[in-house]
Amino acid sequence: MAQPAMNRIDARAKVTGAAKYAADHSLPGMAYGHMVTSTVGKGRVSSMNLGAARAAGGVIEIYTPDNRPAFHGTLPPPMNVFAETRHPLADREIHYYGQVVALVVAESIEQARDAAELVKVTYEAQAPNSDFGQAKQHPAEPPVLPGLPLGKLIEKPHRVDIQAALAASEVRVEETYDVPPRHHMMMEPHAAVAAWQDGKLTIFSGTQGPAAHALELATVLGVQPTDVHVVSPYVGGGFGGKAFTWAPTLLAAASARALGRPIKIVTSREQLFTVTGHRPASSQTFGLGANRDGRLNAIKHHTISQSIVEDPGYRTTQKYYATPNAYIKLEITPGMNLPTATIMRAPGDEAGSFALESAMDELAMRLGMDPIELRMKNYLEGTLVEGTPFSSKHLEECYRVGAERFGWSRRRARPGAVTDGDWLIGMGMSTAILDSGRAPTTVRVTFRPNGTATVACATSDAGTGMWTIMAMVAARALEVPADRIKPTLGDSQLPVAGGSDMYGAVGSAATATVTPAILVAAQEAIDALVEHARTAGGSPLRGMGDIRYDKGRLLGEGTSAEFGELLTLTRTAEVGAQGTTSEPDRSHAYASYAAHFCEVKVNRWTGEPRLSRFTTVVDAGAILNATTARNQITGGVLFGLAAAMFEEGKVEGATGRISNANLADYLLPVNADTAEIDVHFLDYPDTGLSPTGARGIGELGTVGAAAAFANAVYNATGKRVRSLPITADKLLT
Ligand code: MOS
Repeated sequence: MAQPAMNRIDARAKVTGAAKYAADHSLPGMAYGHMVTSTVGKGRVSSMNLGAARAAGGVIEIYTPDNRPAFHGTLPPPMNVFAETRHPLADREIHYYGQVVALVVAESIEQARDAAELVKVTYEAQAPNSDFGQAKQHPAEPPVLPGLPLGKLIEKPHRVDIQAALAASEVRVEETYDVPPRHHMMMEPHAAVAAWQDGKLTIFSGTQGPAAHALELATVLGVQPTDVHVVSPYVGGGFGGKAFTWAPTLLAAASARALGRPIKIVTSREQLFTVTGHRPASSQTFGLGANRDGRLNAIKHHTISQSIVEDPGYRTTQKYYATPNAYIKLEITPGMNLPTATIMRAPGDEAGSFALESAMDELAMRLGMDPIELRMKNYLEGTLVEGTPFSSKHLEECYRVGAERFGWSRRRARPGAVTDGDWLIGMGMSTAILDSGRAPTTVRVTFRPNGTATVACATSDAGTGMWTIMAMVAARALEVPADRIKPTLGDSQLPVAGGSDMYGAVGSAATATVTPAILVAAQEAIDALVEHARTAGGSPLRGMGDIRYDKGRLLGEGTSAEFGELLTLTRTAEVGAQGTTSEPDRSHAYASYAAHFCEVKVNRWTGEPRLSRFTTVVDAGAILNATTARNQITGGVLFGLAAAMFEEGKVEGATGRISNANLADYLLPVNADTAEIDVHFLDYPDTGLSPTGARGIGELGTVGAAAAFANAVYNATGKRVRSLPITADKLLT
């Protein structure tokens, strides 16, 4: 069956510049804030000389820890785990290099930035604990987080002696895989335009979850959630970095209240590295033990990371391969003088799949077995420990179809066997598995007299395609063309359920969350429309017993009317209804799957690795829009390959300074670094998860991509690189 496909309905607004992002808003009387950040990694502000800055042109106010604008409540869970818990400018203590120490507010952005340069801060500096390589020598137990599974020890069987199980295995791999800090670096920086009126805040701020953002702001500002209106129809990338609320937005809101003027704050590229969250470094020791025939006997996955936020074992290993003995453990390095750790696209999964899928490749080499055959020998039908069956899993077909499309049979197992002039050619593969779920939510569907219908939810489109998905699914449910559907999202005052759904575009769950609620709301709205046709004055179907809705028309005995016509005749502005979904069935586990295949070439003389081509075959339930789905997978694969090839936040251990906090030195892939990415979707609707059968896609491409690249590099060169990124210097030695 051909998968439905539709171009983005927001594309024209975006490419013409008509789409207004947070910082594109300007309000009458607005002033501009610019943050000043610390230049030591640990210590205390001993004094601040603000004289020159205060005297500079256009300066209105300078906020410091000594006169900070009011913040009140503590951040609610889970924000207190995934975002910074200290209020901005809370006190004079410095916890990391690049922490906000002052906010300059001026009449223009240039004046604010200029005066910020004139703020003179002196510090009592101490040696920071900023070197992860040192800190990981002394890890600690993670905290217990009520309601969150992160950080929990996972053992199979209970109290397993994993070293004994590894030792009893005929073939073993035990290696350490290191991943550096990584920063979201979305195109749109964190920015906010905040304005207060009568004790109520309106704030334009790019977010992955408008309702959660409003709740978090309300808590910290000490007002009611209904007094905060977040407006965020367009988001220039989030990747987890805009799931929670960070200092720039809090400062815009609080300073706007203190000054009684609208305030705009736009975070600079350099500041983004420190005043917002990032994916922390991790170091994973991976042990695999197998019988000669390739069946796994033991898996040990021990991770050390800066934060419990990054838990590769929990996220990855318990859903990949069958084994009788497993030990999955996280330790953390608390109290580091580094910017705050948060979720980033495929949190835990990206690092975890790099370690696991590299180790599986190493095991396959030791066994002399094809990497796909090794994976099929250990195919998992349900979760590793509980054995909860997966609702729908067609990973074996992903391997088979992917191998065929990619030409896997042409791979030579012996490294370095294929060359092309100065280039060594290699092929590698990996498995991607991503937990999939959905949250209960509420959607409103409304018929209008002009013949259109609106579909509304306080979710987010962070570049993910939600505008278009909402229009397509509502069009399907109402049986009208998609151009008659007007979606609305990105606004905290739109319908939404409570709880985790408020986070909108996170966990690759937005489509699976929102689309079933659209079906419910559409049916409720149709029922309301039929009732309206039966009862409203002016309705040509008034009083009829048998009224049917069919493709936008109401059919009665011998007569019919388009819904727009009906509402016009009855002089009614709108007829609609809300629909709310409940929790998914917990008798099954839900995940999306892909088989990745990567070809690289590595220059024999310079060690430079280049991507040649990539094939991925994806089993992500029903594909509701093949165009945006392909775009999500392509972007995800590139996101993972960027970790494989380039991205690394470089922390100077002695100072805690990130030495490459700019887009010249913090390398991101550009078009010249990419190659053909062939994406093929299987189409098995997961109706166990929801009636639309959609599962998660957004983060799936990222998972496993770095391992496919690393495994291809090994196949090309015989060099196994276990620390990302895989740069030329690591291949020259
Ligand atoms: Mo994603 S890291 O759940 O925004």
